Amino acid sequence: MSNLIVVGAQWGDEGKGKVVDFLAGHFDIVARYNGGNNAGHTIAIGSRQFVLQLVPSGILRPDKVAVIGNGVVVDPVALRNEIETLEQKGISTAGRLFVSNRAHLIFPYHRLVETELENSPWRSKIGTTARGIGPAYEDKIGRRGIRAGDITEEAEFRCLLEMAVQEKQALLRAWGSKVLLDAAALAAESLRLCEFLKPMLIDASAYLQAEMKAGRSVLFEGAQGTMLDVDHGTYPYVTSSSATAGGACTGLGVPPTRISGVVGVSKAYTTRVGAGPFPTEENGAAGDRIRERGREFGSVTGRSRRCGWLDLPVLRYSAALNGLDSLIITKLDVLDELDEIPVCTDYECDGAVRKELPVRSSAWEQARPVYRTLPGWRQPTAGITRYEELPPAARDYLEFISNQLGLEVSIVSTGPERTQTIVRGGTRLEKLLAGSSPPRT
Ligand code: GDP
Ligand code: IMO
Ligand code: MG
Repeated sequence: MSNLIVVGAQWGDEGKGKVVDFLAGHFDIVARYNGGNNAGHTIAIGSRQFVLQLVPSGILRPDKVAVIGNGVVVDPVALRNEIETLEQKGISTAGRLFVSNRAHLIFPYHRLVETELENSPWRSKIGTTARGIGPAYEDKIGRRGIRAGDITEEAEFRCLLEMAVQEKQALLRAWGSKVLLDAAALAAESLRLCEFLKPMLIDASAYLQAEMKAGRSVLFEGAQGTMLDVDHGTYPYVTSSSATAGGACTGLGVPPTRISGVVGVSKAYTTRVGAGPFPTEENGAAGDRIRERGREFGSVTGRSRRCGWLDLPVLRYSAALNGLDSLIITKLDVLDELDEIPVCTDYECDGAVRKELPVRSSAWEQARPVYRTLPGWRQPTAGITRYEELPPAARDYLEFISNQLGLEVSIVSTGPERTQTIVRGGTRLEKLLAGSSPPRT
């Protein structure tokens, strides 16, 4: 029995949804540990496409159980809509989607506060997804949040919401907002709305521990990516949760000793949405070409993703920080038409190569990428499922990445669809998967 963490190795949108859906076949339970409906995970199965935000990507396999952990912030409206959309598409979540009673809830005032903060002249504009994620995590850390389990005690819930609304009203008023909040109306509406949540609530930590003890395997699904992690990312241009592998333990209440391995997901190039450092960004035609071929537009906000070349310093950092056992490279096919492909091997700051990533935003701005240019393959790789069938230059590209990082590339994705996937034999990941349940669906 193996328990594996899947973590984004860059700035999110690496294709984690596709990877988790693919790997889920080997596991019994898929558990999400961080983020909220800021995430957008697009999964294609045959001609059908699904966009998941809160629901773990394992849900598309009918025999899997999906768990939303305490580290996730849950907007009940978003969750209900997502479940309804899934049901309309014939995916039943009944009896196999659970939510931690310790997960914090997002309320409409979180979005209002976020809008004020994003437009405030005293704060850096982060370019958030405007889903109220940051303010909900602020309330959690500030010890004034409201948790999913609180909906089961009506009087307590009303009291907690009354306090929260009073505080938010005072803040909004101080910032000059004319919005008037109504605690009683919001409590009544929330209690009615959250009825659907009640049967899903569990003590996720106790549940997962018991399941693992009984021999069931768990795939831990991270949202966002390493460079968006609140502690380890390009702060303050980050999200507000622990997106790195450590977040799986705190975000689900699972002991580190239960984790068998960690895989990182990276595109064959780099993208980022929102503001913040991005040394290998290409603002000109090269970036536009990647954006068009890779369809790099956000699945949550529809925003254009910023595009650029693969950044090995970021992946090196990510490999060390997450303790990656192996790397999964997605969207290789997007590079198919290029004559040559620059890869950033190091950063230069003040004329010297530096080994550590910058910490302060202004230091990030001074980081100049040092590129090695590799030949392109100029042949279609889309849909290839066997490593040996990749053009030699594409294999050289992957092997260059692997050698530079000292890390195996275990899976290569050659298209958005589930089956457009190469699984390399003899890898640590393959061995790890062999220790988990055999694929059933
Ligand atoms: P996530 O947030 O990490 O799950 O990634 P997103 O779903 O936000 O973005 C990845 C996008 O790339 C989605 O539209 C996927 O359908 C698509 N995708 C995933 N893998 C591949 C691939 O190998 N090739 C191509 N062309 N598209 C892919
Ligand atoms: P998935 O799981 C890419 C970015 C936002 C913004 C910053 C803070 O699909 O990879 P937030 O709304 O979280 O407070 O915004 O983080 N961001 C993401 N970028 N993929 C995501 O999730 C993201 N979730 C948040 O664009 O820059
Ligand atoms: Mg995404």
